[in-house]
Amino acid sequence: MTTPSATPRRPGAATHVLRATDLGAEAIREVLADAAAIKQDPRSASESLRGRSLVMLFEKPSLRTRVSFEIGMSRLGGTAVYLDHREERLGRRESIADYARNLERWCDAIVGRVHEHATLEALAAWSRVPVINALSEKFHPCQALADFMTLIEQGRDPSTLRLAFVGDGNNVCQSLMETAAILGSSFLAVTPPSCRPDPQILAECRSLAARSGGEVACSDSIESIAGVDAVYADAWISMGEPDSAAKRQALEPYRVDARAMEIAGPSALFMHCLPAHRGEEVLDEVIDSPASVVFDQAENRLHAQNALLRRLLSLPPRIEVKMRRRRDLAGSRTASETTRDS
Ligand code: CP
Ligand code: NVA
Repeated sequence: MTTPSATPRRPGAATHVLRATDLGAEAIREVLADAAAIKQDPRSASESLRGRSLVMLFEKPSLRTRVSFEIGMSRLGGTAVYLDHREERLGRRESIADYARNLERWCDAIVGRVHEHATLEALAAWSRVPVINALSEKFHPCQALADFMTLIEQGRDPSTLRLAFVGDGNNVCQSLMETAAILGSSFLAVTPPSCRPDPQILAECRSLAARSGGEVACSDSIESIAGVDAVYADAWISMGEPDSAAKRQALEPYRVDARAMEIAGPSALFMHCLPAHRGEEVLDEVIDSPASVVFDQAENRLHAQNALLRRLLSLPPRIEVKMRRRRDLAGSRTASETTRDS
């Protein structure tokens, strides 16, 4: 049985979250439970990250991810700094290693949205503060956390859930598949043969599912979504990807319309990471229907990410007390400096 590869890290390095396997089942369940608690009582978390800071570097556009991380961090009492790398990719002005070794001196975590997953791996290899994947071409783990939070809110139990992703089997599909496999869900990727998930990631997810009691399958037939709990769609052409008439044509039979939702059944939810391309991967009749939970998913980005940030950045109480004592004594020393030499 293959063991899914977690993100490589140097000894003593921070916990990075570049994909769901970096968290694992127990941590994901804890993050989802904390996210629900924060959503219910936001004030309970309002001081959790006071004095902490986040640097967010984006090589691609964003609405949900940027706003939910920025507002989320401020709700936790911390600060977020946005770095626009849409014009200049990471690694061009200075090496990624040097970039990481600068950032780690100022901030407590790095959030990155990148063209190449390898960029995040390089940042993570050099950063002593956690690196969080805010979307790469391979994974979108924060989206999947919000999506499972939404499914649980809708009364679905991940261990019995049947989730169908319809469309292009790239980043969003692969993170959903990985999270589903970890949590014991049944996951079906319904794609044209040319848009299947990455074979290695698929094999890793099958191995995870074998251990969790879940199931991971692929199909090229829209009829195979009969009886699922939720139908999930994403863009046909992802950010940074060249447009392709051939790809659009291959994806035409995978548009989620009222007929597809009829096949899924009357209790199926409709999900989408957004932004939606209405008239392409989904029609208004579906995304604006009562089955659609897309704006709950968008809202839950905030709560799920805040729970993740609390997990990665909150200090154990013993260290927190020690820090306060040292701050009282030394006045100007920063939280991160104190933590590192604790
Ligand atoms: N779903 C999502 O990540 O949205 P943005 O691209 O707007 O951040
Ligand atoms: N697959 C899409 C997801 C957007 C949130 C993209 O990468 O553009």
